[in-house]
Amino acid sequence: MIDFFNNTFYLNTSSSSYIMKILPDGILVHKYYGKRIKEQNMDFYNLYKQFDYTAVYKVNGEITTMDALPFEFPTTGRGDYRNSAIVVSGTSGRTTNDFRYSFHRIFEGAAELNGLPHLDCNTENVQTLEIILQDIVTKAEVHLFYSVFEDVDVISRNTVIVNKSESNINVSKCASMSLDFEFSDFDMISLYGRWANERSVERIPLRHGQNIISSTRGASGHHSNPFIALARKNANEDYGEVYGAALIYSGDFEIGVDVGQFDNARLFAGINHETFSWELKPNESFVSPQAVLTFSDSGIGKMSRNFHKMCRKHLGECSKNLPHPVVLNLWEAFYFDLSEEKVLETIKNASKMGVDTVVIDDGWFGKRKNELVSMGDWYINVERFPNGFHRIIRECKNNGLKLGLWFEPEMIGKESDFIKEHPEWFVKLNEIEPIVSRGEYVLDLCQDEIINFVFDSMSGILKKYEISYLKWDMNRNITDMGSLSLQSNCQNEFSHRYMLGLYKLIGKIKKEFPHIYIEGSAGGGGRFDFGMLYYMPQIWCSDNSDAISRLDIQFGTSMVYPPETISSHVSAIPNHQTNRVTSFNSRGNVAQMFALGYELNPNIINESAMESIFQQIEKHRELEKWIFEGDFYRLTDFDDEYCAWQIVSKDMKKSVVVFVVKLTKAKRIGQYVRLKGLQSDKVYKIKQYDLSLTGDLIMNAGLPIIKQLDDFESLFFELSTE
Ligand code: GLA
Repeated sequence: MIDFFNNTFYLNTSSSSYIMKILPDGILVHKYYGKRIKEQNMDFYNLYKQFDYTAVYKVNGEITTMDALPFEFPTTGRGDYRNSAIVVSGTSGRTTNDFRYSFHRIFEGAAELNGLPHLDCNTENVQTLEIILQDIVTKAEVHLFYSVFEDVDVISRNTVIVNKSESNINVSKCASMSLDFEFSDFDMISLYGRWANERSVERIPLRHGQNIISSTRGASGHHSNPFIALARKNANEDYGEVYGAALIYSGDFEIGVDVGQFDNARLFAGINHETFSWELKPNESFVSPQAVLTFSDSGIGKMSRNFHKMCRKHLGECSKNLPHPVVLNLWEAFYFDLSEEKVLETIKNASKMGVDTVVIDDGWFGKRKNELVSMGDWYINVERFPNGFHRIIRECKNNGLKLGLWFEPEMIGKESDFIKEHPEWFVKLNEIEPIVSRGEYVLDLCQDEIINFVFDSMSGILKKYEISYLKWDMNRNITDMGSLSLQSNCQNEFSHRYMLGLYKLIGKIKKEFPHIYIEGSAGGGGRFDFGMLYYMPQIWCSDNSDAISRLDIQFGTSMVYPPETISSHVSAIPNHQTNRVTSFNSRGNVAQMFALGYELNPNIINESAMESIFQQIEKHRELEKWIFEGDFYRLTDFDDEYCAWQIVSKDMKKSVVVFVVKLTKAKRIGQYVRLKGLQSDKVYKIKQYDLSLTGDLIMNAGLPIIKQLDDFESLFFELSTE
């Protein structure tokens, strides 16, 4: 997997190669990343002969400019004016750095990152290369880690900076990875959005200069996602070369590409340096979040499947492949209008639906009657629940159900008992009024005392009652960043320290209550990233539960994250966010291949609707046995009038397809949808048509859509080899 000869490092996954070389003067340069090639002499690649009259530098006797050199971990101040990966200053306060190769080691297993989410360390068939560079100016050491996950075609990367000098150093920028290409004829694919409309797909040609996706919100955000893909111009869903980069991080980030004067491209990913800096005393070190890279020579779809496999095999809770409970979440059923009687009645009906778990959402604690009061008062509202949850849990048990509970652990209400006791515990500046949003302030999770307090108050409930499911929400972004616990020269450490505190808090809850299944949420999908998925195998992907809106949202989310991590609920009509009316069939079909759940009031639905839900869940349980280890294929483009996706089982003997009409104008008959990933020579029985066709035919001529479909109507197909 990892080889080193002729001063060259060769990192191979099953279908990609990543190659770097140490130049005679100790500069580490990138040589190649792409389709797997045999190890050979790379000296004739990247000859760096570009010439820029204003800044020259000699490498290997050739006149060249630093602006052309493919630095593996670039710095500022020495003639490379493209995006730097690291900025460190020592006592002089200057920010010029010059890192040169010092030594390296190769070890079995993956890099360990204390306190940060990361891919599994103790996995077999994974090797890690650690390259140590030292800055001639500040004596800071940078350790570049590359863990090669051969089986899933992923290379993880992270950086550790160690202060080897005798005085303090300041790190004002530290990327998790940087990667140079000699060319820039790429399109950049990223996911943008807003509340209730997360992760739309955008594909744009790279421009010269910086092309950046970022967040400074204290969360990865609804508006951007810590992921980009670079696709060759001719690449599409199924063909062509695509590079994917993502961060295993949930806070302020930047991922981008800097296209230089010689049309070279530099891809970088890491913490957003705008809200970051870090003081290091002698011998202290700083660990960056982990980035993951994958290369596909078969289009965007394969890049997605590589990320899906990585998540399933190597990412924390996701790799445990826990069965996901089908939940009935009570938010859209009752909003804040909760009572013991209502919940008891709901439990009876929920058991008729056939769900596993009833989740009591917001509104069960303190004096919570709307979003403005009681945030953080994690004790049961006795007016609404005079018997605590005792009767509710008993009723759940009698009906074969489990109970789930909603928390928003990171916040404190302006109107709460909590704030009266601890008025200094939220994030604020002394000089100006802190910004209150949704009645809440953000807790200062840089402080252990606060983390422990939140942990204790959550534990009080979780220990007292048998709770098996926890929805972890975060409903506002962070403002007024800073912590009373930090000295003025360290205030810019807040954003990352907050994330470390948050991961610590979640880790403590996971450790104390390992049986509790956690679902993430942040005003819907405002923190959908690999960082959260490390702790929570599933995330509520949008507050927009309308089936047709969900097509785009789930399409975009599937670019990076596997379908079983994407909570998808069937909700009532007219839909509460869009007012749209869609058939029960379509609402079910859109959710069926994801983490299915329900978001409606079962006390007001009739027998036949109840029976349909029951059937839907039965079907899901049957499919769940194989779809969440299968390959996910997008069959249409983001902007198409139709949306269709497909899952093929691992053994390629079974497949399911959903086809939904998205736009009103899309009323045509005689459609064919070309399926993917089947075995050409096998005959597949299509259950819904009682028809058998070869994989060859279905993948090339297509699966016929013989019914005329109205607006927002859909079809669900099941295929299996005979
Ligand atoms: C967020 C979540 C919703 C619901 C509300 C409760 O918006 O995304 O599902 O839990 O909070 O306040």
